[in-house]
Amino acid sequence: MFDKNVYKSRREALMKSQLKGIAVFPANDEASCNYPDNTYHYRQDSNFAYFFGLDHPNLVGVIDFDKGEEVLFGEEVTIDTIIWCGPQPSLEEQAESVGVKTTKDINRFGEFVREAVEKGRTVHILPPYRGDMKICLARWFDINICDLDRFVSQALIEEVVKLREVKSDVEIAEMEIAAQTAYRMHTTAMKMCKPGVVEQEISGTIEGIAIAAGGMVSFPNIVSVNGQTLHNHGHKNILREGRMLVVDAGAETENYYASDFTRTTPVGGKFNQRQKEIYEIVLKANMEVAAKTKPGMKYMVMHTLAARTIIEGLNAVGLMKGDIDEAVVAGAHYLFMPHGLGHMLGMDVHDMEGLGEDNVGYDNAIHRSSQQGFSCLRCGKTLKPGFVVTDEPGIYFIPALIDKWKAEGKHTDFINYDAVEKYKDFGGIRIEDDLLITADGNRILGPGIPKTVKDVEDFCLGNI
Ligand code: GLY
Ligand code: MN
Repeated sequence: MFDKNVYKSRREALMKSQLKGIAVFPANDEASCNYPDNTYHYRQDSNFAYFFGLDHPNLVGVIDFDKGEEVLFGEEVTIDTIIWCGPQPSLEEQAESVGVKTTKDINRFGEFVREAVEKGRTVHILPPYRGDMKICLARWFDINICDLDRFVSQALIEEVVKLREVKSDVEIAEMEIAAQTAYRMHTTAMKMCKPGVVEQEISGTIEGIAIAAGGMVSFPNIVSVNGQTLHNHGHKNILREGRMLVVDAGAETENYYASDFTRTTPVGGKFNQRQKEIYEIVLKANMEVAAKTKPGMKYMVMHTLAARTIIEGLNAVGLMKGDIDEAVVAGAHYLFMPHGLGHMLGMDVHDMEGLGEDNVGYDNAIHRSSQQGFSCLRCGKTLKPGFVVTDEPGIYFIPALIDKWKAEGKHTDFINYDAVEKYKDFGGIRIEDDLLITADGNRILGPGIPKTVKDVEDFCLGNI
């Protein structure tokens, strides 16, 4: 946990908004895995953690905008909890540790919130995303679970996004720690990327690095020789010479700040000519974005730049053809990169995505495009200092998508299907870094995981 003043100043900033009524931030509960008492690793709700810091279930934080008050609802420690979980701070001590003066019994929370509604006060909640939380909220409000949307507050969403999107110095320091852990995860994976190794051996080893650092992985590892499947969470394949391993993985710190990096490594440490050609295109897209990303720029412009670089590179190796700018406008790159350039990063790996992708990734100056090749971009908005975004272009050869487009005769002006057919066994390549937007440009977080062809090969072969 940070110093209590961090949480106090976050709540004060929210208090200064024009909101009226009360905002309700429930903590996440434990989540059962295969029987009630066997729970998944506990993960606090990021919005609760942002404003109230505590890492426990069974709490609700309330901010009363009209009275200028903050209340922590919870329950006193029972002897059973002490027997099974050890000595615990009292509710008052917990509240004090995050600078909240008033505590109340959580068993009275339903009464409290219903009274506020009956008095005609506005009660703001953020979109709930866990089934058990929806049930709790419906019970507290005494409404049908399908009617919860009535209380989901666009105004609160916008205020929370405004605060969480700009990372403070303490948050950036946390994200640096997460990036350092990711460095160790990725360099370990690169060293293990040898013929005969099973994906799960690498995945398990690097997950252990994240846990040993005091947190968790920031999302389930993607460790796959089938990198053409974008979010491949199966880890059963044996690494064979001639394939590449995509590792898309990151850590989150004990304060829940995430990293998210991707590297693609040839099995055995040496790229073949065909792999090198495609890798260089993805690398160029990644590095051009890193070179040009700065405050005031719309990230959609960087997505377009990456798409253009990919089309240009694929034209040069004969997989695409025709006018490059026309191909970009037509979205023909979607065949090879059917995802966006990146997303916001913070306490969630897709930061605040639970508040609605468009609320987080777009602004008044730029709305989500409906055009294939652009509509998939999670973050297109105008960048500000303190934002952290991922820069993750890729090129993938997805046989089913190639077959579909070819059968439909799609973009035949731009795609050289005869040549593409020969790449159906290629797999995919993605390269991802985390960019902190600074006053005049950006900085890649972390120590810099090897990514040029030479550095990857030298690293794998033990030369650096
Ligand atoms: N690294 C996983 C993702 O960005 O979706
Ligand atoms: Mn990512």
